[in-house]
Amino acid sequence: MLQGTPGRVREYYDEHPISEAHVLAALAGQGQADSPTADDLFAFDQDHYGGLSAVDGLARRAGIGAASRVLDVCAGLGGPARFLASRRGSSVVALELHAGRAAGAARLNRLVKQTRVTVVRADAAALPFAEGAFDACLSQEALLHVADKPAVLGECHRVLVSGGRLAFTDWIAFPSLADRERQRLWEWMAATTLQTLEGYRRLLGRAGFTAIETEDLSGEWRAIVRRRLELHRALRPQGEARFGRRHYAEYDQLHAFFVRLIETGKLGGGRFTATR
Ligand SMILES: C[S@@+](CC[C@H](N)C(=O)[O-])C[C@H]1O[C@@H](n2cnc3c(N)ncnc32)[C@H](O)[C@@H]1O
Repeated sequence: MLQGTPGRVREYYDEHPISEAHVLAALAGQGQADSPTADDLFAFDQDHYGGLSAVDGLARRAGIGAASRVLDVCAGLGGPARFLASRRGSSVVALELHAGRAAGAARLNRLVKQTRVTVVRADAAALPFAEGAFDACLSQEALLHVADKPAVLGECHRVLVSGGRLAFTDWIAFPSLADRERQRLWEWMAATTLQTLEGYRRLLGRAGFTAIETEDLSGEWRAIVRRRLELHRALRPQGEARFGRRHYAEYDQLHAFFVRLIETGKLGGGRFTATR
């Protein structure tokens, strides 16, 4: 039986600013609420660092084309899945555990008439697919929420064809990240556990993958996160009006803590590619 999203992760995404309602409100604000296309959503439905070029970078590394059967693991609102389907012509299964996000992803697909994307609500650690069902598995900024990373990687290995490709990005820890900082990351952004670059390499090897490549994206992500904090501060009046003063101040403090972790080399981003 499908277990629900673990409590803290569920709460985090229940309150997340990137939501179906946010996407619909943004479309309405731009006068695009009637018959929008997938392209109209892309500015609002991507929940990862680096926007569409980050999805494209993973797709290139995974060799995704029109004939590819792709699994997006922890797909959120399905933004990256719709991008792959509309730009590369691939068939994509968007796998998402959070009930509200999975339902929102399916409704957004229908809204833009994206028939090449199918949403499946399931846990990344127990994939409801047959062996060899996919040519590529992708994932972005999601495995931090899953405690059993060996299970997720093992499941990706099982559902890929021989020669199939896995490409994903995630938050990574560096050795100086202290336990109390990990605890705060758990409380703030539901970071259940964080791996290191080398830790992921080992886990991928143990899951049976070959041709494993790891890339440190911390420099790129540092710049993105810093810009976001600046933007957040520039929009303070609007932020306070939308979320309330207290909530805005708390978020600002946490965001600043997060930026400091990245700037002091305790936290960063990694990209991983491997072959089944
Ligand atoms: C940062 S969002 C990324 C969404 C999407 N990859 C994107 O880039 O737009 C992480 C997503 O992982 C989902 N998630 C967390 N744990 C999961 C699990 N065990 N199985 C499936 N999805 C999960 C969350 O609900 C959330 O939607």
